[in-house]
Amino acid sequence: MTAKILDGNLLAQKLRADFKTRAEALAARGTRPGLAVILVGEDAASQVYVRNKVNACAQAAFHSEKIVYPPDVEPRRVLARIAELNADPQIHGILVQLPLPGHFDSEAVLKAIAPEKDVDGFHAENVGALMQGNPRFIPCTPYGIMKFFADAGIELKGKEAVVLGRSNIVGKPMAMLLMQASATVTICHSQTRDLLFHTRRADILVAALGRARFVTAEMVKPGAVVIDVGINRLPDGKLCGDVDFGPVSEIASAITPVPGGVGPMTITMLLANTLEAAEREVS
Ligand code: GUN
Repeated sequence: MTAKILDGNLLAQKLRADFKTRAEALAARGTRPGLAVILVGEDAASQVYVRNKVNACAQAAFHSEKIVYPPDVEPRRVLARIAELNADPQIHGILVQLPLPGHFDSEAVLKAIAPEKDVDGFHAENVGALMQGNPRFIPCTPYGIMKFFADAGIELKGKEAVVLGRSNIVGKPMAMLLMQASATVTICHSQTRDLLFHTRRADILVAALGRARFVTAEMVKPGAVVIDVGINRLPDGKLCGDVDFGPVSEIASAITPVPGGVGPMTITMLLANTLEAAEREVS
């Protein structure tokens, strides 16, 4: 079997065209969706992600502000800026790029964001709402992955779903969404015994562990749907995912490539959340 390629650029383009139309309709009524992105420090990958987020806003006719601090900034300055953004009517979404430098209490920073502007869905209140099955904002990466399933007509009900990775950003919310879609979910992590036992029975396999080409063909059940969240840089500078794409795509029924899979969808769902926040405010 050769897998169907789930093309994130294509799906992102389709969704973003709709977002632009909706953003312009809102702007005509006096409200342009606005996103503020805060970056602390000089991490190269974070700089690229933030630039891509701000560019995506411009293309979708959203207002955006990029706020950059040096790595040694005092946390209270960042907290003060977040308080201003919470009160700024031009801003509907606030995102603090993670990871923050070590002298920050990340949880305190995320909690400082007004929950109704927390477009990442990382505030404890929004995490709780998602857990209760009544989400205000769905974290962007798992939200984008759910869009792949919907767009490709991939049924989740009753399926065995295995998530590799237990992060707050991807693994945990992904597992919650799969469960709410009536899949049977297993979360595997670095201490999981007999990983092969779990991955080989997965109908849906989501790899979000951050290790280049970790998921090999022998770990995958023939016909499985494989979602690759990894973005790893190889010694030659090329990007690759957590999945050994070539051999796995020979046995999976559907697979996301890296680049061009989950990545563009993550940013797209950030736009979706910002737009939803603006639409909620107006309605
Ligand atoms: N760092 C890696 N992924 C993300 C994300 O989705 N949001 C934020 N704020 N930081 C990240």
